[in-house]
Formats: sequence, structure tokens, C-alpha cells
Amino acid sequence: MGIYAFAVPSDLWCSPRTYLLSPFNKSIKLRYTSPANTQFIGQHIIYEAVCASTNSLAAQYLGRKELSDGTVIITDHQYQVRGQRGHQWHSEPHQNLTFSVILYPTFLNIQQSFVLNIIASLAIQYVLALYVPSDLRIKWPNDIYHQNKKVGGVLIENMVGDHTLKTAIVGIGLNVNQTSFTLPTPTSLSLICQRTFRLQRLLEQIFERLESTYLQCQAQGLASLREVYLSHMYWMHEVHTFRDVNHTFQGIIRGIDALGKLIIEHSDGVLQHYSMQAVTFIA
Ligand code: BTN
Repeated sequence: MGIYAFAVPSDLWCSPRTYLLSPFNKSIKLRYTSPANTQFIGQHIIYEAVCASTNSLAAQYLGRKELSDGTVIITDHQYQVRGQRGHQWHSEPHQNLTFSVILYPTFLNIQQSFVLNIIASLAIQYVLALYVPSDLRIKWPNDIYHQNKKVGGVLIENMVGDHTLKTAIVGIGLNVNQTSFTLPTPTSLSLICQRTFRLQRLLEQIFERLESTYLQCQAQGLASLREVYLSHMYWMHEVHTFRDVNHTFQGIIRGIDALGKLIIEHSDGVLQHYSMQAVTFIA
């Protein structure tokens, strides 16, 4: 296992596979440990007790030095969490899982970046389904919903090479033990299951499933995951209201295309393909 020396004033060596970065350069309790059952995801963990955003921190570290495949940056408190479309993700300190995984998905070409959305959302959905018996859905492209409430979200930021993806920062936010929210739409595992969860155990399960799904995609291609993803899609084959640049309309989600765009059937039978910025789910 490699040892990274970051140009930050306070890095603190903790175990052969895990760092704690303490703003005060003093010994603090190891918060998350690497799982025994993965080859690379989570084998290096960088823990920062508080940070603006683990995705931003990951990008900063990557700007200074290449981190090993599967390195995880994790925190217990983010104060400037970044979400899709510039949205904020509100998370109470110490209650939830908020982390970013660094991957080098060079087997994906530039047009296939959406595949990482599929891998991440399927992995999270699988782990949550170990605890939640029903009604878990993936809201395209990668939100995890229980009934009509969001329990998890993913923000993936890619750096591209000439033809392929080079580096991906897969940021995952999962509401675990938080039980009150200012907005009506989020929920948490704890609210759904009426119990508290061990963050470390859930984290290990996500690392394991993320890795196996990623490796399956690498070995067998997207086709092996596509049908499973479609089978879990929120609002699939149901009439709902959406908004695009032109208007609010009723339509039916019919799937995703080869570029990962959402296919919606309009009331006149026309199938339109939407990128993430081009359509909003209304009701
Ligand atoms: C969304 O639903 O809009 C995506 C939310 C993603 C939040 C996670 S928390 C860890 C990582 N760091 C960030 O700043 N964002 C992601």
C-alpha cells in the first residue's frame, strides 16, 4: 500500500491503509477503517473531520498528486456540499455518510461517463435494499428514492483524457441516521427502518458492492447492468409531469439511450431523449 504525503500542514499517519488529517495535528480517534473484502475501493481512506466538500477536497488532492485507484475521502461534516445542477445537499454532522471515491475508469470512452452513474446508483440501491424491503428506486440518473423521498444522491465529476475518461470523483451522500430535515423531500435509512445504523458497516458494504459492480462492468460491459438499472428506475412506465425548456408536459419514462439520456414518451407518442440539464421531474 502506498503512502501519500500531501502538502497540507497536518497530515497524520494512522495505519498502513488509513490517514487522518487533523486540523490541529494531534491524535484523533480513527473514524473509518478499510474493509477486508475489497481489492482497491476503500483500501486507502483519507478522513477529514470537517471540510467544505469531499469532492472539492478530492480534486485538490488530485491536483497535487495521483492517488491510488479506489482512494476514499470521507468526512463527518461538510459545510459546502455540492450536488447535481448546483443544488445543495444538506446533511447533519456525524449522522450520515458523505464521501468521494477516486476511480480511474479508462475502460470508458468519453461518451460513456453516464455508466458511472449506473454503477454508483446500482451499488447504493443494492446495499440499501439489504435493509429496506420495498419501494427503493433510482431516480434517473443517480438519486436513490424511497417512495417519493430522496435518501441518497451522487455527484460524479470526471476528468477526461484524449479518448477515454481519466479520473472520476464519485461523490456519495447517504442519509443514514438523521431523523429531522428542514425540507419535506429527504428521508433517511433511520426514518425508513426505525433504527440506527453503524456508519462503518454501511460504508464497507457500499465499497464492496461498488467495487464488484465496477469490475463487472469493466469485464462484461454495460449490458450486464443496464436491465437491472432499468428495473429499478423511478416513475418507469408511469404517466407523470415533467418540464423541459419549452413547457410542462405529461409523459412516460421508457428508459435510457446509448448515451445515458432519459427517454420520455410524450402524449403524442413521440419519444424524446433528454440530458440531465434538459428535463425536470415535476409530479
Ligand atoms: C445530489 O443529489 O445533488 C448529489 C449530492 C451529492 C452529495 C455528495 S456528499 C459527498 C460528495 N461531496 C460533495 O460535495 N457532494 C457529494
